[in-house]
Amino acid sequence: MPESLPLKRRLVILISGRGSNMQALVHACRDEAWPAEVCAVIASRPDAAGLSWAREQGIATGALYHKDFPSREAFDTALAEEIDRYQPDYVLLAGFMRVLTPGFVNHYAGRLVNIHPSLLPMFPGLHTHAQALATGVQLHGCTVHFVTPVLDHGPIIAQGCVPVRVGDTPDILADRVLAVEHQAYPAAVRWLVEGRVRLTVDHRVEVDGDPQRLFTEGEI
Ligand code: GAR
Repeated sequence: MPESLPLKRRLVILISGRGSNMQALVHACRDEAWPAEVCAVIASRPDAAGLSWAREQGIATGALYHKDFPSREAFDTALAEEIDRYQPDYVLLAGFMRVLTPGFVNHYAGRLVNIHPSLLPMFPGLHTHAQALATGVQLHGCTVHFVTPVLDHGPIIAQGCVPVRVGDTPDILADRVLAVEHQAYPAAVRWLVEGRVRLTVDHRVEVDGDPQRLFTEGEI
């Protein structure tokens, strides 16, 4: 790690549901002794299941409910205020199911990372596993990327891939993709907190040490 970096990078994770990617990040951060700490988990709804797990881990939590706000901008402004209380170096979207305003995204430019359940640029948006099955692709997966104001778009840090198998349903495929999400996301964030990730002038990611940035489900 470059010597100029502070001892611990501060991470805030945003969730909307069960938070299995959040759990993978929290576990990896602790078990692999990253130079980082997860300072808070913030949910887009108070009943997000992952919040109680985070609380049990002694992590600060927060929740904002979009229906309590008059507009998307008002929600995002309040969300940014909540996040910024923790002064994060990186904000990690882990199953955060809200479209973010350009103002919010630009506020965290270069510090906002998402995991999306498809091999971007294929299948942005919702129902990615059903989209994959409907189009007949033989390879599917997930993408960890920097967030830009364009939905499910931005410089790719890591990807995970799984073969589509005969008999797959969206749920079966989702489970297998989730397993590679739990490899790709912690690996990508570890590179970030180690200060190894650089953006090139043409908006591609380079990682010092050139690690393998594709994660696979066993042998394909
Ligand atoms: C994950 O599959 C993640 O990639 C996806 O939601 C799921 C959340 O699961 N994210 C998106 O679709 C964002 N557009 P988790 O709550 O168990 O991490």
